Order: sequence, then structure tokens, then C-alpha cells
Amino acid sequence: MMKIAVFASGTGSNFQAILDEVKSGGLAAEIALLVCDRPGAKVALRAEKANIPVFEFSPKEFKNKEAFETIILNQLKQYNVSYVVLAGYMRLIGETLLTAYPKNIINLHPSLLPSFPGKDAIGQAFHAGVKVTGITIHFVDAGMDTGPIIAQKALEVEESDTLESLTAKIHKLEHTYYPHVLNTLFQKRELEV
Ligand code: GRF
Repeated sequence: MMKIAVFASGTGSNFQAILDEVKSGGLAAEIALLVCDRPGAKVALRAEKANIPVFEFSPKEFKNKEAFETIILNQLKQYNVSYVVLAGYMRLIGETLLTAYPKNIINLHPSLLPSFPGKDAIGQAFHAGVKVTGITIHFVDAGMDTGPIIAQKALEVEESDTLESLTAKIHKLEHTYYPHVLNTLFQKRELEV
């Protein structure tokens, strides 16, 4: 079974969706570890409830990114992790992890990249007045939401949509589509090796 680590910083609704899909058999993977850069975040409670090991850390307690990523990397090795799955991890991945996991770090972004990278993508799209937006799943490189695109799903912004209703629609799409795309990717990769 493919062992994955999920990295998250906040609420963890996507972590929960991935976990639920693993449990129901729709995603052939094992969540070996949750990595969280905000101690006390709700996502950590979700993992603890499911008996998934959690590695929490405060970036500001380290001298730089390399220092905390080296510790994360040790954890990933300890749990035999093959893929890093970002789900609301609000931080750029550095050279230490990119070198150790080339092409094996995946991110979910709530816009149709390359439009609206960075923070508050849903708000950016809404305020720009686009009529179509969506979500992107992509491999992670050193840039901000710039890596090769794996899959995208679009949705229409209705005349009646508010930022809140659009946000809810985007999240709903993420929760079904991200686990599905991960499953397809892992199966394909397993056939390749
Ligand atoms: C999601 O919208 C994801 O696309 C973005 O961060 C958000 C995380 O939400 N990268 P949650 O913590 O999974 O609820």
C-alpha cells in the first residue's frame, strides 16, 4: 500500500476527505503521517481521532527552512512515506524536501492555475469577476503554485454567487476530486514501477 504524508496548516477538511476516502476504499493509500506547521490546528485533532501519527512543529523555533525540513524528512523516512500530499499547507516547500521527493509532492490549489496563484485564490477569482473558476492539482516545484499540472476541474460562477457560496462550492469540489485524482495517480505510478 502506498504510504503518504499529508501536510496541512488549518481546518483540514481536505485531510478529512482524503482520510474518509482511504477508509471507504476509494483511495488505495495509507496516511502514515500528518505534518502540521501550526500546533493546535484543527487538522491535528482530526488525525489524532483517527489514530494517525502527527508531527507538529513551529517554524519560528528553527533557524531556517532547511532546519525544520531536515527534521520532517527524517520523519518521512521513518514512516516509509512515498508521497507528500499538501492539503492547505500554507508554506513553500524548500530544497531539502524537493530534492528528497522529486515529482512526489502534490498540491491542491483553489483556482484554475496559472490564474490566481498564492493566498486567497478564491477571493482573488471572485473579485476579478471571472465567470469560470475551479481547482488545480499539481506537482510541487520551488515556485508558488507553479509546478506541472496533473488535473483541473472547472465550475461556473453564478450571477447569484457570493464569496461565501463560491468558497463552499470550491471546497465541495476539492473534497471529491482531490482523493480521486490522487488515487488515479498512485495507481498509474504503481504500474510504472
Ligand atoms: C483548500 O482550499 C486548498 O485548496 C488550499 O487550502 C485550503 C485548505 O482547506 N490549498 P482545508 O484545511 O483542507 O479545509
